[in-house]
Formats: sequence, C-alpha cells, structure tokens
Amino acid sequence: METPVTSGPSRDRARALLEGAYGLTGTLERLPGENENYRVDTPDGRRFVLKIAGSDQTAAAIELETQVVELAHAADIGIAFPRVVRTASGAVTAEATTPDGPGLRARLLDFVPGVAWSDAPAATRDQRIDLGRTLARFDRALDGVRLPAARRTHRWDLTAAGRHRSNISLIADPQRRRIVEALFHLHAAVAQPRLARLPHGVIHGDANDENVFVDGGRVSGLIDFGDCLLNPMVCELAIALPYAMLDADDPLARGADVVAGYDAERPLSLAELQVLFPLVCGRLAVTVTVCAERRRIDPDRSSWFVTEDRAWALISRLSAGDPADAGRRLAAPTGLDPHPTTGAPKATLLEARRRRIGRALSIAYDDPLKIVRGSGPYLYDDRGRPFLDLVNNVCHVGHCHPRVVEAGQRQMAVLNTNTRYLYDGLTEYADRLCATLPDRLDTCFLLNSGSEANELALRLAMTHTGRRDLLVVDGAYHGHTSTLIAISPYKFMGRGGPGRPESWVHVVPIADGYRGRHRGRDLATGRAYGDDVGRVLDGIGRPVAGFITESLLSCGGQVIPPPGYLARAFEHVRAVGGLCIIDEVQVGFGRVGSHVWAFQLQDVVPDIVVMGKPIGNGHPMAAVVTTRAIADSFANGMEFFTTFGGNPVSCAIGMAVLDVMRDEALQAHALDVGTRLRDGLAGLMDVDPRIGDVRGEGLFIGVELVRDRLTLEPARDEADRLVNLMKERGMLLSTDGPHGNVIKIKPPMVLDAEDVDMVVRSFADVLAEIPR
Ligand SMILES: Cc1ncc(COP(=O)(O)O)c(C=O)c1O
Repeated sequence: METPVTSGPSRDRARALLEGAYGLTGTLERLPGENENYRVDTPDGRRFVLKIAGSDQTAAAIELETQVVELAHAADIGIAFPRVVRTASGAVTAEATTPDGPGLRARLLDFVPGVAWSDAPAATRDQRIDLGRTLARFDRALDGVRLPAARRTHRWDLTAAGRHRSNISLIADPQRRRIVEALFHLHAAVAQPRLARLPHGVIHGDANDENVFVDGGRVSGLIDFGDCLLNPMVCELAIALPYAMLDADDPLARGADVVAGYDAERPLSLAELQVLFPLVCGRLAVTVTVCAERRRIDPDRSSWFVTEDRAWALISRLSAGDPADAGRRLAAPTGLDPHPTTGAPKATLLEARRRRIGRALSIAYDDPLKIVRGSGPYLYDDRGRPFLDLVNNVCHVGHCHPRVVEAGQRQMAVLNTNTRYLYDGLTEYADRLCATLPDRLDTCFLLNSGSEANELALRLAMTHTGRRDLLVVDGAYHGHTSTLIAISPYKFMGRGGPGRPESWVHVVPIADGYRGRHRGRDLATGRAYGDDVGRVLDGIGRPVAGFITESLLSCGGQVIPPPGYLARAFEHVRAVGGLCIIDEVQVGFGRVGSHVWAFQLQDVVPDIVVMGKPIGNGHPMAAVVTTRAIADSFANGMEFFTTFGGNPVSCAIGMAVLDVMRDEALQAHALDVGTRLRDGLAGLMDVDPRIGDVRGEGLFIGVELVRDRLTLEPARDEADRLVNLMKERGMLLSTDGPHGNVIKIKPPMVLDAEDVDMVVRSFADVLAEIPR
C-alpha cells in the first residue's frame, strides 16, 4: 500500500509510543521502503515491526487488514504473517497525541522472518511454483469470507486499471506510449468485460517482490495487507506474475511456473485463464504509468522507480508476441487452452476467397484481419488482439449483445414463418417502431436489407405519384441493386460506373459547408443548398416522383448539412408534388444523440423513411415507414411479399435492439461520448494543420484531412496511412468521401469514454508519425 511520506514522527516519538502503549523497550531500526516502519528488537530477544499508520489510512482499513491476517493465519498455510500485537489495553492501534504535533497512530506486528523476494538470490523454479501455491492457498483460505470493508477500490485495484489511462500522455517516448496504450487496451477489451463473472474473494492484492518473503528457496511469509480487497481471485496471480517474470529472457516460461503452483492448489478455470495475460498487461501498464505520474511529482525519489526499467524491459519482451500465444504459454501447465485456434489461417482463407468468392468483393486493410469474435465495441482477431470498432454502425448496441442474441435464439426455437400468417411480433414491432417517429409516419413495411428497403421506397414514391424522375444527392450511395446503383452517384460516377446518370436521375449538389459550392454552417448556407434543389427541379422540365437523401451524408464524406437545408429542399420538392424520401440506413436509431432520427436535426418530416443496418444489430433486416395514404396507393392490386421480411425472428431481434437502446440509455450515451470524441479530435486541429475539419453529431463523426487549409487539397494518402496505422494500434477506422480523405467514425453505440480518449491520444500520435 502506498502511503504518502510525511515528515513523520521521529524515532523518539515512536519509541515513546512503544513504551507507553505496549510496555516494550528496545532498539528501533527504520526499515527500507516507502512507509515508516521500524524493526523493534527487545532486550529479551523478541522482534516486531512497528508500523506507523499513514494519514490516509482509515480505522476500517486497518481493521480489514487485521481481520485478513488473522483469517490467513488461522488457515495455517505454512507461512508467517505480520499478526497484530495488541496494546496493553487490548487495542489494535496505539495512538499518541502531543500538544504540539499531529497524533501518531501505529500498530505493532509480529516480525516475519526471511528476506524479501527482491533481495533473495535469483528464484528457482521450485520457488516460483511455491509462490503460486502460497498465493492460491491464501486465496482459498479467504474464499467465501464476508468482509464488507473489502468491497472497496484503490489506486492499484486491477479491475479499475483503466483509471490510469489518462496518464499515458505523461510518458514522454511515443513508442512507449504506443505499447502502454496497447496493454491497457488489451486489459480493457479482453479482461474487463469478463471480470464480473469470475469467482471473487478477498485477495492480498499486492504480492510484489518486496511483500513476498522467502527463506531457503521457499516462500516463508507475506506482508503488507494494505491493498487487500474483494476482487476476482485471478487478480492475485496476475499481480504477482510480473515480479516473478522480471529480468527473464523467457518471462512466460517463468510465469508458467507460478501458474503451475497456483493451479495445483486452486485450479484455474478457462475463463480465468482467458483474462490472465491481459490482467498481467494491465498491471504492468499501471506500474509504468504510475512511474510517469510520479516522475512529474518528484523525479529524484529513487525508491519510486526501483522496478521501472525492469518493468519496461519485461513489457518489451511480452509485447513482442501475440496475446493469444502468451495466454497459451502461461496456461500451459493447466492443460487448458484459453485461445483454441479455430478454422483456417489467414493466408489459406485469402486463397480460398480468391478461388471461391467473386473478386468484386473487397477486403479492408493492407494486411487483412481474420476476426474470430465480437463483443461490445470490440472485435478480436485470431491472434488474440482486440480492435476497437469505430466504423461498424450495424452492431449498434454492441457486437453480439447477449439480449439480442438471446431474443433471436429464443424465437428461432419457437417459430419462424412469414407475414402471410398472423403472429404478435410483426404488429408489436411495427407499433414500437412507429412510436419513435412523427405521427404521420404510421405505416410499416419490413424487409431484409437497406437496398431492398430503398427499392421499395422508390416503388412507393413512383406508384404514389405516377412519375419516375428522381432527385439524388451527389456522392450518395443507396444500395447495390440495379436501380439503386442508378441513383447512387457514389457508384455510377465512381470506378466501373458509366460516369453519368440515367435520364430519369437528377443530381443535386452535396450540402457540404466545408468544401462544397456554398461554404458555411449557418442557415443561409443551408437554404442556398436547398435552393440548389429547386434549381435542378426547374431544369428538369417535368414533375418528379421525389427526392431521396440521407439525413447526414455518409459515403459523401460524413457531411452534416447546414441547418435549414432539408426544410428548403423539401419545400421545392413538395411544390411540384414530389415525395421526400429519407435514407436513415446509416445514421438512424439514436446515433446522432440529440434525436432518434437524424432528419429530426433538420426539423422536417419526410414522407418515407428507410431504415437498415443497426435495426437488427447485425441480423439482416430493414424497414420502410411511410404515411397511410402513400402505403394505400401502393396497394393497387399487385401483392407485396418478401419471404423473410418481418419474420418472427427478425421482429424479436428488432424489439430486443429497441429494448437495449432504452435500458442502456444509448442515445444519451451517444451524445455524451460522441461530443467527447468530436471535441477531442477538434482539439488536435491546433496541433496538426492537416486536420482541416472535424464534424459530427453524436457518434457520427468525420475528420477531413487536407494538405492545405486554404486550397483544401485532399490528403488522401495520409488518410489511408492513418487508417492503417490506427489499425496496427487496435482501432478500426475507414476513409470515405469523394476524395477518400475523410476519416469515417460511426462506432457501435457502446463505446466508452476511456475508449474515446484512447482514440484521441492515438490519433495525435499516429498523425505525428506520418510525414507532412
Ligand atoms: C445510406 C445507405 N443506404 C442503403 C444502403 C444499402 O444497405 P444494404 O447494404 O443493407 O443493402 C447502404 C449500405 O451501405 C447505405 O450506406
């Protein structure tokens, strides 16, 4: 336990206390270490430790330590403990007050024989095994005891390691920052989500090499119970492991010895082994981050930095390999494999794809990823590395959200059929969906993909108006069918496209206040873009079926149209009897934070709304919601049917998504963390002039990179490089926009503030790595 060093009472005051409270005399020798402790030798040959309490130590904490030591002692696990020697009046602590000085509190403890692990000769394998055994016996001794005061946290609580992450920026060397960022990330993404379900118990919590005593190659004692707390028991082992691995050429082999001993006494479960290496990484990350923090306070206090260099050396060895391999090696003595390899290696899969899958399908990243698992905002690759998913707006409430998975599984086991039968899910879900929308949008169609939904939206508009012509936004993408490619300038103007619109498709400018034809983010700019829609309409010379646009333009470059844009555009379209179709496939379901639907940012009510991607959290489903009148025109005798759309399983999943959004307050969360992320990235504009623009609403954010803030020359290569380097650091991003220079950010809504801060710190470091 760390205690701030005070100027402290003199040895004389300690001696006076010893005599007054305990009736003992003898010699007092100050022991090395941060805390003020004295070795006491009495004339009759007895030996104690007088431990002066730090000013921050509460009576409850001291009581907890005393209880833990007594329980461990009573379990008779073969080592010595610093048991409390009570005062002459039977108290645990002795207190002395002086008229002129602060009160002095101290405890007298049994002396623990042996030497600290750090001072003993290099540990043998048997000694490491014995360490594991001893810790496991200790944990078993305390397993199941109820000590309410142990429900606490403190600076070294390994389950709360993330609280140190904000201090990573205090580490001066960028390469070291990168490595520590990765250690914390591994801890946060792999260990943290699993900790709550692991067996808990009161642990010592600080079995470092100064607190473990050895004698003749065996562990002889355990001291300093100031950090004991209720924790997942595996944290005990994870905290001790780095010290046993220091200075080793093959640290994992050394660590495995400790694991072997621990497992022999208290068998580790697979779930515990899965988090063990990430916990070790978390502990090491905390160690070096605390050193960086302390260096700022007092760089000359050498006792603070005794293990720092050795910890860095260990970190560099451990980060050289894959986390999955490290986990396997640590777990080897248990016979369990925490990371069983499944499926084919990456190279084989790439080759198989080449043979079996259409080549038009692309793969992300210069070095593609083989992803084996997803959870929350994270994806995990076959090497055990976590990736923060910053681009997947499909797994809206988090990858594989257990409530969504369970809803699908449960319904799949009962009934899956089609909409020609009556079942509760369809109408129940349609009610729930309509309740999120303005009143006039009251009629639903359920489908299987965004493309299918946009196809239907076009058919609704064309049937209702009896017209074909359509206004579309430059740079937009609406889906992969023939008709949708024809209305997606992103495709028909892009590589492999015909390079011009079909005669019934009319392109209006993108309302991009940063690089578009009107610059600015005010009402006047919004209206100017709205009037562009009117101008294009005038040029067509015949009435149109409608206007389709995303509320915020995704493929167009994460563009947030200026206020007033849609209201003015809708006015023009409605003046000629056209319908206004809003594509919310990318941006809907609370992503923008302030509203459920992004069109609400513009204070308009569309005639048709198209939904997809996040609606089923990865299950293929989509929806079109429109007015009763438009839906009625569509009911012209031709039956509408889709085999899978609106099936009971999809409806159950869709409802679970809405439930999770409500219960986890994800819309408000998106506003919080999205604003934090946007502001954090915007703050980097002062540091790097290549960040030309940072824009966003909630968790829909774009960062536009330029080579020159005046000419706005797109920094496409830099954007590509940034995305690849961020991927190497465990964060998945992508680029988009007509010039490929906009970093696209639209993560699952469960991203947390710590993740956000990691992104901002890493973004800054990565940009600094890319030559200007
Ligand atoms: C805005 C928008 N609309 C529609 C679609 C088509 O959706 P899907 O891929 O589910 O067919 C996409 C897909 O990326 C999209 O981004």
